[in-house]
Amino acid sequence: MTRTPQAAAEEAAAELRSRTGVDGYDVALVMGSGWAPAADLLGASGHELASADLPGFVPPAVEGHSGTVRSISDGERDILAFLGRTHLYEGHGTSAVVHGVRTAVAAGARTIVLTNAAGGINPAYPVGSPVLIADHLNMTALSPLTGATFVDLTETYDSGLRELARSVDPTLPEGVYAAMPGPHFETPAEIRMLRAMGADLVGMSTVLEAVAARAAGARVLGLSLVTNIAAGLQDANLDHEDVLATGREAAGTVGRLLADIVAKL
Ligand code: 6GU
Repeated sequence: MTRTPQAAAEEAAAELRSRTGVDGYDVALVMGSGWAPAADLLGASGHELASADLPGFVPPAVEGHSGTVRSISDGERDILAFLGRTHLYEGHGTSAVVHGVRTAVAAGARTIVLTNAAGGINPAYPVGSPVLIADHLNMTALSPLTGATFVDLTETYDSGLRELARSVDPTLPEGVYAAMPGPHFETPAEIRMLRAMGADLVGMSTVLEAVAARAAGARVLGLSLVTNIAAGLQDANLDHEDVLATGREAAGTVGRLLADIVAKL
Protein backbone atom coordinates (compact mmCIF):
# COMPACT_ATOMS: atom_id res chain seq x y z
CA MET A 1 0.00 0.00 0.00
CA THR A 2 1.41 3.36 -0.98
CA ARG A 3 -0.66 5.52 1.35
CA THR A 4 -2.61 4.88 4.48
CA PRO A 5 -6.44 5.24 4.56
CA GLN A 6 -5.92 8.22 6.86
CA ALA A 7 -3.62 9.94 4.34
CA ALA A 8 -6.15 9.24 1.56
CA ALA A 9 -8.93 10.81 3.65
CA GLU A 10 -6.80 13.87 4.42
CA GLU A 11 -6.06 14.28 0.73
CA ALA A 12 -9.79 14.12 -0.11
CA ALA A 13 -10.60 16.57 2.70
CA ALA A 14 -7.98 19.02 1.39
CA GLU A 15 -9.47 18.82 -2.12
CA LEU A 16 -12.96 19.29 -0.67
CA ARG A 17 -11.79 22.39 1.18
CA SER A 18 -10.23 23.88 -1.92
CA ARG A 19 -13.37 23.23 -3.98
CA THR A 20 -15.98 24.39 -1.44
CA GLY A 21 -14.05 27.05 0.43
CA VAL A 22 -15.43 25.61 3.66
CA ASP A 23 -12.77 25.37 6.36
CA GLY A 24 -14.34 22.71 8.54
CA TYR A 25 -17.60 20.83 8.78
CA ASP A 26 -19.61 20.35 11.94
CA VAL A 27 -21.64 17.37 10.86
CA ALA A 28 -21.67 14.94 7.96
CA LEU A 29 -24.53 12.80 6.71
CA VAL A 30 -24.48 9.78 4.48
CA MET A 31 -27.77 9.62 2.62
CA GLY A 32 -28.75 6.08 1.71
CA SER A 33 -31.41 4.87 -0.69
CA GLY A 34 -34.50 7.00 -0.34
CA TRP A 35 -32.83 9.55 1.89
CA ALA A 36 -31.10 11.72 -0.73
CA PRO A 37 -34.08 14.08 -1.33
CA ALA A 38 -34.03 14.78 2.41
CA ALA A 39 -30.76 16.65 1.86
CA ASP A 40 -32.76 19.48 0.23
CA LEU A 41 -34.37 20.23 3.61
CA LEU A 42 -31.13 20.54 5.56
CA GLY A 43 -30.29 24.09 4.56
CA ALA A 44 -28.93 26.18 1.73
CA SER A 45 -26.85 24.19 -0.72
CA GLY A 46 -23.42 25.49 -1.54
CA HIS A 47 -21.14 23.50 -3.81
CA GLU A 48 -22.09 20.09 -5.04
CA LEU A 49 -19.57 17.81 -6.68
CA ALA A 50 -19.33 14.26 -7.93
CA SER A 51 -17.70 12.16 -5.21
CA ALA A 52 -15.50 10.64 -7.90
CA ASP A 53 -13.93 14.09 -8.35
CA LEU A 54 -12.41 13.77 -4.90
CA PRO A 55 -9.36 11.53 -4.49
CA GLY A 56 -10.06 7.98 -3.32
CA PHE A 57 -13.76 7.78 -4.19
CA VAL A 58 -14.96 5.12 -6.63
CA PRO A 59 -17.77 5.86 -9.10
CA PRO A 60 -21.23 4.73 -7.92
CA ALA A 61 -22.56 1.46 -9.31
CA VAL A 62 -26.22 1.39 -8.31
CA GLU A 63 -29.34 3.26 -9.37
CA GLY A 64 -30.63 5.42 -6.53
CA HIS A 65 -27.14 6.12 -5.26
CA SER A 66 -26.15 9.28 -7.04
CA GLY A 67 -22.60 9.64 -5.71
CA THR A 68 -22.43 13.35 -5.08
CA VAL A 69 -21.12 15.39 -2.17
CA ARG A 70 -23.01 18.51 -1.17
CA SER A 71 -21.84 21.33 1.06
CA ILE A 72 -24.77 22.82 2.99
CA SER A 73 -25.17 25.65 5.47
CA ASP A 74 -28.15 26.00 7.80
CA GLY A 75 -26.94 29.41 8.96
CA GLU A 76 -25.24 28.04 12.05
CA ARG A 77 -23.56 24.90 10.90
CA ASP A 78 -21.60 23.67 7.92
CA ILE A 79 -23.03 20.34 6.87
CA LEU A 80 -21.50 17.83 4.51
CA ALA A 81 -23.94 15.44 2.81
CA PHE A 82 -22.91 12.42 0.79
CA LEU A 83 -25.78 11.60 -1.56
CA GLY A 84 -25.11 7.95 -2.08
CA ARG A 85 -22.39 5.69 -0.73
CA THR A 86 -20.04 2.92 -1.75
CA HIS A 87 -21.30 -0.53 -0.76
CA LEU A 88 -19.20 -3.57 0.06
CA TYR A 89 -20.91 -5.54 -2.72
CA GLU A 90 -19.37 -3.23 -5.33
CA GLY A 91 -16.16 -5.10 -4.67
CA HIS A 92 -13.78 -2.22 -3.88
CA GLY A 93 -13.14 -3.39 -0.33
CA THR A 94 -13.76 -1.98 3.12
CA SER A 95 -11.47 1.05 2.71
CA ALA A 96 -13.57 2.30 -0.22
CA VAL A 97 -16.76 1.76 1.83
CA VAL A 98 -15.58 3.96 4.70
CA HIS A 99 -13.60 6.55 2.73
CA GLY A 100 -16.48 9.05 2.86
CA VAL A 101 -16.75 8.85 6.63
CA ARG A 102 -12.98 9.16 7.05
CA THR A 103 -12.95 12.13 4.69
CA ALA A 104 -15.77 13.78 6.67
CA VAL A 105 -13.87 13.33 9.94
CA ALA A 106 -10.68 14.63 8.31
CA ALA A 107 -12.78 17.63 7.21
CA GLY A 108 -13.67 18.35 10.82
CA ALA A 109 -16.99 16.55 11.32
CA ARG A 110 -17.31 15.15 14.83
CA THR A 111 -20.86 13.90 14.32
CA ILE A 112 -21.71 11.45 11.57
CA VAL A 113 -25.30 10.67 10.63
CA LEU A 114 -25.64 7.39 8.74
CA THR A 115 -28.93 6.68 6.97
CA ASN A 116 -30.04 3.65 4.99
CA ALA A 117 -32.91 1.73 3.50
CA ALA A 118 -33.54 -1.48 5.38
CA GLY A 119 -35.70 -4.56 5.32
CA GLY A 120 -38.00 -4.87 8.30
CA ILE A 121 -37.57 -7.98 10.44
CA ASN A 122 -39.36 -6.80 13.59
CA PRO A 123 -43.08 -6.78 12.71
CA ALA A 124 -43.51 -3.66 14.87
CA TYR A 125 -41.82 -1.58 12.16
CA PRO A 126 -44.04 -1.29 9.09
CA VAL A 127 -42.91 -0.18 5.65
CA GLY A 128 -42.28 3.56 5.62
CA SER A 129 -41.12 3.77 9.27
CA PRO A 130 -37.95 5.56 10.22
CA VAL A 131 -36.15 3.60 12.96
CA LEU A 132 -33.21 4.72 15.09
CA ILE A 133 -30.32 2.28 15.03
CA ALA A 134 -29.52 1.33 18.62
CA ASP A 135 -26.87 -1.27 17.84
CA HIS A 136 -25.73 -3.50 15.02
CA LEU A 137 -24.76 -7.00 14.01
CA ASN A 138 -21.85 -6.89 11.57
CA MET A 139 -22.55 -9.97 9.43
CA THR A 140 -19.96 -9.02 6.81
CA ALA A 141 -17.17 -10.72 8.80
CA LEU A 142 -15.01 -7.73 7.87
CA SER A 143 -13.57 -4.67 9.57
CA PRO A 144 -12.45 -1.43 7.96
CA LEU A 145 -9.68 -1.20 10.54
CA THR A 146 -6.29 -2.64 9.84
CA GLY A 147 -3.57 -3.62 12.23
CA ALA A 148 -4.06 -3.81 15.96
CA THR A 149 -6.82 -1.24 16.31
CA PHE A 150 -8.91 -2.30 19.28
CA VAL A 151 -11.90 -0.01 19.27
CA ASP A 152 -14.59 -0.15 21.93
CA LEU A 153 -18.01 -0.53 20.29
CA THR A 154 -20.07 -0.60 23.48
CA GLU A 155 -21.86 2.56 22.41
CA THR A 156 -21.42 2.69 18.66
CA TYR A 157 -24.67 4.60 18.20
CA ASP A 158 -24.45 7.47 20.67
CA SER A 159 -27.19 7.37 23.31
CA GLY A 160 -27.19 11.16 23.65
CA LEU A 161 -27.80 11.54 19.92
CA ARG A 162 -30.60 8.96 20.07
CA GLU A 163 -32.17 10.90 22.92
CA LEU A 164 -31.88 14.07 20.89
CA ALA A 165 -33.59 12.35 17.94
CA ARG A 166 -36.40 11.21 20.22
CA SER A 167 -36.81 14.78 21.47
CA VAL A 168 -37.74 15.62 17.85
CA ASP A 169 -40.03 12.58 17.46
CA PRO A 170 -40.87 10.80 20.73
CA THR A 171 -42.49 7.97 18.77
CA LEU A 172 -39.24 7.04 16.97
CA PRO A 173 -38.59 3.37 17.70
CA GLU A 174 -35.10 1.92 17.89
CA GLY A 175 -33.70 -1.39 16.77
CA VAL A 176 -30.73 -3.55 15.96
CA TYR A 177 -29.50 -3.35 12.35
CA ALA A 178 -27.89 -6.41 10.80
CA ALA A 179 -25.59 -5.77 7.84
CA MET A 180 -25.27 -8.51 5.25
CA PRO A 181 -22.69 -8.39 2.44
CA GLY A 182 -25.27 -8.45 -0.40
CA PRO A 183 -25.95 -7.67 -3.15
CA HIS A 184 -28.53 -10.45 -3.02
CA PHE A 185 -31.33 -10.22 -0.49
CA GLU A 186 -31.61 -12.87 2.22
CA THR A 187 -33.34 -16.21 2.15
CA PRO A 188 -36.27 -16.71 4.54
CA ALA A 189 -34.03 -19.03 6.61
CA GLU A 190 -31.39 -16.30 6.90
CA ILE A 191 -34.04 -13.84 8.05
CA ARG A 192 -35.21 -16.33 10.72
CA MET A 193 -31.56 -16.65 11.79
CA LEU A 194 -31.13 -12.86 12.01
CA ARG A 195 -34.36 -12.53 13.95
CA ALA A 196 -33.19 -15.21 16.42
CA MET A 197 -29.93 -13.28 16.83
CA GLY A 198 -31.80 -10.14 17.79
CA ALA A 199 -31.93 -8.16 14.54
CA ASP A 200 -34.86 -5.83 13.90
CA LEU A 201 -33.63 -4.50 10.54
CA VAL A 202 -31.47 -5.85 7.74
CA GLY A 203 -29.45 -4.05 5.13
CA MET A 204 -26.15 -3.91 3.28
CA SER A 205 -24.44 -0.81 4.62
CA THR A 206 -23.77 1.44 7.62
CA VAL A 207 -21.95 -0.90 10.03
CA LEU A 208 -18.45 -0.55 8.57
CA GLU A 209 -18.91 3.21 8.35
CA ALA A 210 -20.03 3.28 11.99
CA VAL A 211 -16.96 1.32 13.06
CA ALA A 212 -14.65 3.64 11.08
CA ALA A 213 -16.35 6.72 12.54
CA ARG A 214 -15.98 5.41 16.10
CA ALA A 215 -12.34 4.53 15.47
CA ALA A 216 -11.82 8.11 14.24
CA GLY A 217 -13.43 9.46 17.42
CA ALA A 218 -16.69 10.76 15.93
CA ARG A 219 -20.17 10.29 17.36
CA VAL A 220 -22.63 8.31 15.26
CA LEU A 221 -26.36 8.61 14.76
CA GLY A 222 -27.93 5.87 12.64
CA LEU A 223 -31.35 5.97 11.00
CA SER A 224 -33.01 3.31 8.88
CA LEU A 225 -36.04 3.70 6.68
CA VAL A 226 -37.97 0.44 6.42
CA THR A 227 -38.54 0.16 2.67
CA ASN A 228 -39.82 -3.42 2.57
CA ILE A 229 -40.46 -6.39 4.80
CA ALA A 230 -37.63 -8.94 4.86
CA ALA A 231 -37.86 -12.26 3.02
CA GLY A 232 -40.36 -14.87 4.13
CA LEU A 233 -42.22 -12.65 6.59
CA GLN A 234 -44.98 -11.82 4.16
CA ASP A 235 -46.25 -13.21 0.90
CA ALA A 236 -44.19 -11.06 -1.48
CA ASN A 237 -40.87 -11.07 -3.29
CA LEU A 238 -38.21 -8.39 -2.84
CA ASP A 239 -37.40 -5.88 -5.50
CA HIS A 240 -34.85 -3.04 -5.52
CA GLU A 241 -37.44 -0.90 -7.38
CA ASP A 242 -39.84 -1.23 -4.37
CA VAL A 243 -37.03 -0.15 -2.07
CA LEU A 244 -36.51 3.00 -4.17
CA ALA A 245 -40.26 3.71 -4.53
CA THR A 246 -40.83 3.54 -0.76
CA GLY A 247 -37.86 5.83 -0.31
CA ARG A 248 -39.38 8.38 -2.70
CA GLU A 249 -42.77 8.23 -0.94
CA ALA A 250 -41.23 8.69 2.51
CA ALA A 251 -38.75 11.39 1.44
CA GLY A 252 -40.80 14.32 2.78
CA THR A 253 -41.49 12.82 6.21
CA VAL A 254 -38.02 11.48 6.83
CA GLY A 255 -36.49 14.64 5.38
CA ARG A 256 -38.25 16.87 7.88
CA LEU A 257 -37.36 14.48 10.70
CA LEU A 258 -33.70 14.55 9.67
CA ALA A 259 -33.61 18.33 9.22
CA ASP A 260 -35.16 18.83 12.67
CA ILE A 261 -32.63 16.46 14.23
CA VAL A 262 -29.66 18.12 12.51
CA ALA A 263 -30.90 21.55 13.65
CA LYS A 264 -30.58 20.34 17.26
CA LEU A 265 -27.14 18.74 16.99
CL1 6GU B 1 -34.71 -7.35 2.95
N1 6GU B 1 -32.13 -7.09 2.90
C1 6GU B 1 -31.00 -6.41 2.73
N2 6GU B 1 -29.87 -7.08 2.90
N3 6GU B 1 -30.95 -5.12 2.40
C2 6GU B 1 -32.11 -4.47 2.24
C3 6GU B 1 -33.33 -5.12 2.40
C4 6GU B 1 -33.29 -6.46 2.74
N4 6GU B 1 -34.30 -4.21 2.17
C5 6GU B 1 -33.71 -3.05 1.88
N5 6GU B 1 -32.36 -3.21 1.92
